[in-house]
Amino acid sequence: MPEDIHARPIGIFDSGVGGLTLFKSIRNLLPNERLLYFGDTARLPYGTKSPNAVRRFSLQIARFLERFRIKALVVACHTASSTALVDLKIAMKIPVVGVIEPTVKKAIQVTRNKNIGVIGTKTTIASNSFQSHLKKASPSVFVTAIPAPLLVPLVEEGWVDRELTRMILKEYLSIFKKREIDTLILGCTHYPLLKTLFQEELSDSVHLVEPSIETASYLRELLRRNSLLNREKENHESRFYVTDDPDNFSQLARLFLGQKLKEPVLVHLEGEEQ
Ligand code: DGL
Repeated sequence: MPEDIHARPIGIFDSGVGGLTLFKSIRNLLPNERLLYFGDTARLPYGTKSPNAVRRFSLQIARFLERFRIKALVVACHTASSTALVDLKIAMKIPVVGVIEPTVKKAIQVTRNKNIGVIGTKTTIASNSFQSHLKKASPSVFVTAIPAPLLVPLVEEGWVDRELTRMILKEYLSIFKKREIDTLILGCTHYPLLKTLFQEELSDSVHLVEPSIETASYLRELLRRNSLLNREKENHESRFYVTDDPDNFSQLARLFLGQKLKEPVLVHLEGEEQ
């Protein structure tokens, strides 16, 4: 009997735990889908690595996930979406979804004064990915983009409501206030956990765009258009793969998902130490 393509899993990958923000949105929106999550915990952070290194790691992970006959690949990591998406699309025979395009679409929809901010890792901002997509979608937008490398470690420490975190955020956000942006793209997997602080510091009039929410609906639409949605109404258990320290991943996952994970599986990719 030919295998039913609809029942195949969706692969999601990130440098580590942060991509669980997108995993969560996908699980909520597409409860019938089987999800495989890959966190490259041995090589994180990606946000400070060169684009070439991130591309190499991303292709390796895609090859690994391909073995499970995934029907679509979701690049949850913003740094990987910014640097490796084109190569992944060329290399894979299945649909590949990154976070940039869906997020930019939403930002352009919601901005009124066409003054948009982007905040993310060093490599994401240096890649110009969000900036160039925004300009392409609407040439008259004014974009202010800044890297905020201190935020990822603060989130992973669980310091999401500390005064110190607020002070650091204030510093990063001052340029956006000066430029009077009305829309801010939270361009990193970890930032949804700081959403309350962001909103408090920027006032209610600034619209925060969350890539995880936009990307999950983009994925649903893409699967629907390609007749790839799972028709089975079963609740599938998700599977997790990591390249280092599954226990630490499980612990950190609680921060992002608010629940314990089924034991993640430790895997070693060829040449992983590079
Ligand atoms: N997942 C990364 C991103 O969204 C943040 C963590 C890292 O630097 O690896 O860009």
